[in-house]
Amino acid sequence: MTNIKIDDKIREYGRSHRVPISLDDTLEFLIQTIKDNACTEILEIGTAIGYSAIAMAENVADAHIDSIEIDLERYNIACNNVSISKLDDHITLHNMDALEYLKGCQKKYDFIYLDGPKGQYIHYLPYLIDILKTGGIIFADNLYFHGMVTGAIPVSKGCRAMIKGLHKYIDAITTDPNLDTKIYDIGDGVGVSRKIK
Ligand SMILES: C[S@@+](CC[C@H](N)C(=O)[O-])C[C@H]1O[C@@H](n2cnc3c(N)ncnc32)[C@H](O)[C@@H]1O
Repeated sequence: MTNIKIDDKIREYGRSHRVPISLDDTLEFLIQTIKDNACTEILEIGTAIGYSAIAMAENVADAHIDSIEIDLERYNIACNNVSISKLDDHITLHNMDALEYLKGCQKKYDFIYLDGPKGQYIHYLPYLIDILKTGGIIFADNLYFHGMVTGAIPVSKGCRAMIKGLHKYIDAITTDPNLDTKIYDIGDGVGVSRKIK
């Protein structure tokens, strides 16, 4: 990657162990969007092994990231990676279901990186809008889901419910009067929604 600092070791571990981590161009766009909008209070849904959380903390001055991961093994690896990177003051990891976190959340964020279970985005949306400051951004990854959402490739049987959920999410973010949304042809499709009221 050209202009951002990333941890090559974590990236290689993710790729070789088939852990789904952000694509290079998505990560660059993510960090540029956070910087352009001077966001510092960040929520990430879907930590995996901490790769994108660490990249955000390394590249955005004064950022604090709450990141949610349901899988205990990945959470433990992420804790270790954050600790090795000496970013414990900037990243707080939560081992729990994202919906439970959202239901109990009392904090307000200026940026949300939505990278958890794709079929759940639509169910998270009302909570995300609620905890987002006015002017804040929801950055949602994988809106194309390898072409299954755009129709470029057929929807496989096991993915039907998820793809339906993604269509509903795209429909919601592009029609909600509280949001100003653009969908970018970057990586696997990224939706950037700003809360305007
Ligand atoms: C695409 S990965 C996240 C990648 C990470 N953002 C990165 O780029 O390094 C999605 C993660 O969401 C987690 N996940 C799935 N369902 C979840 C849920 N209900 N609550 C929280 N995390 C969940 C998965 O275990 C997986 O590690």
